[in-house]
Amino acid sequence: MYLTHSVSQELLRKYDRPGPRYTSYPTAPVWKTDFTAQDYQQAIERSNRQPVKPLSLYFHIPFCEMLCYFCGCSTIISRDKGKAADYIDVLGSEIELLGSLFPRNRKVVQLHFGGGTPSSLTPTQNRVLFSRINQWFDVDYQEGEISIEIDPRHASDDYLETIRELGVNRISMGVQDFDPVVQKAVNRIQPVDLTERVYRKVRDLGFHSINIDLIYGLPFQTVKGFEKTLDEIIRLSPDRLAIFNYAHVPWLKKHMVLIREEDLPRPEVKFELMELIGEKLTGAGYVYIGMDHFAKPDDELTRAQANRTLYRNFQGYTTKAEADLVGIGVTSISMVDDVYAQNQKGLPDYQSLVVGGKLPIHRGYRLSKDDQMRRAVITRIMCDLEIDRKHVLDVFGESFDQYFASEIGNLAEFAGDGLLEIDSDRIRLTPLGRIFMRNIAMVFDVYLRNAPKGPLFSRTL
Ligand SMILES: C[S@@+](CC[C@H](N)C(=O)[O-])C[C@H]1O[C@@H](n2cnc3c(N)ncnc32)[C@H](O)[C@@H]1O
Ligand code: SF4
Repeated sequence: MYLTHSVSQELLRKYDRPGPRYTSYPTAPVWKTDFTAQDYQQAIERSNRQPVKPLSLYFHIPFCEMLCYFCGCSTIISRDKGKAADYIDVLGSEIELLGSLFPRNRKVVQLHFGGGTPSSLTPTQNRVLFSRINQWFDVDYQEGEISIEIDPRHASDDYLETIRELGVNRISMGVQDFDPVVQKAVNRIQPVDLTERVYRKVRDLGFHSINIDLIYGLPFQTVKGFEKTLDEIIRLSPDRLAIFNYAHVPWLKKHMVLIREEDLPRPEVKFELMELIGEKLTGAGYVYIGMDHFAKPDDELTRAQANRTLYRNFQGYTTKAEADLVGIGVTSISMVDDVYAQNQKGLPDYQSLVVGGKLPIHRGYRLSKDDQMRRAVITRIMCDLEIDRKHVLDVFGESFDQYFASEIGNLAEFAGDGLLEIDSDRIRLTPLGRIFMRNIAMVFDVYLRNAPKGPLFSRTL
């Protein structure tokens, strides 16, 4: 069972607060715009001097044909394929800039194409992009994870056959919810049979793994309606499922005002949706991995969670903790050595810097030892669903109990509310604590203490 007890409305209200999703620590609002391309280049040089570490490359393909009103991603709505062709040209130049900074013996063990909608590229544009990547990096197509996010509404057979031939071995498909009322409210009409046809084609082509994205917390969602969606998904039997909590942030994404707050499910309904998701999926044989994610028992994510090697970054959960992450494309984020670096968010700025031969860095951050310790604790909460007190001592040579004495004091309230079990070795999240994992992680986030007032993050429930 995922959850074992019912919960009072009072408790839901207490913990339903704005909070980060911790795909990084410190979170992006803390990063600095005086962090320069030179700072990033120095981080690359530092990491090149260490024992050889593999690379994970992330490519951001921002284009989408139509706007989903719930979308929190970095997108450019356009049907003009010429725009994408120009963009691929610039990506090619950025690949060359970065490729010349990393020695060839740093093998690429993970390639991920995210968006936006990577399946908006034509087969030819994909061929051009892959040939540029192969020119500058050694990609391990045999053992590596080569994955693409596709929108089933825009993924032709020709496209799927091409990417398979180019070496892509994993697919992530956006579905969100099959309920027609919800689909209409979010401007994303995607019938079950269309999704199933693409899913079957992907399976027939022999991709190793399929992930499906759903969202709970969308307007007009009901427990009954979402149960039907889950039944359809379980019938398809994807290897992994990401069931995201809808992040409603209209102050950051203006188009979200098209979703009326009064149409969103109330906290009690969201809690019931979470219970439903956990019960249905674990009942169908999936394992709860961590925030929003489930996988089959034989999946690498499940194995990594069991042996404590799971990691969390901008791409969500990953098994490639050892790799430096290099983001390529507009808005993309890198994590190399002890820095985060983010590319320009606007296409014109991004393009003009790359065309001028410069790394297109917009902002970044170099982590202190304190940041690294806090990041390690938050990552273990999100990945292991517990803190092993010895871990901090082993990795950083500091006593967890002494260094985090005040945080441990603050955790007592969570234990009192049934979210944590605390003993002398470990601090473990209960099934209820998993739902409020972000609240628990927030105790270790020193930057939230002085955060500016006003909305910054989505709500935790
Ligand atoms: C880049 S999209 C996936 C590929 C493709 N664009 C699509 O939508 O099918 C990444 C995923 O982020 C999730 N997502 C987007 N906006 C979100 C939001 N505001 N809150 C939670 N999840 C969101 C959706 O589940 C979506 O499938
Ligand atoms: S959810 Fe996917 S398809 Fe919809 S606008 Fe966002 S990135 Fe594009």
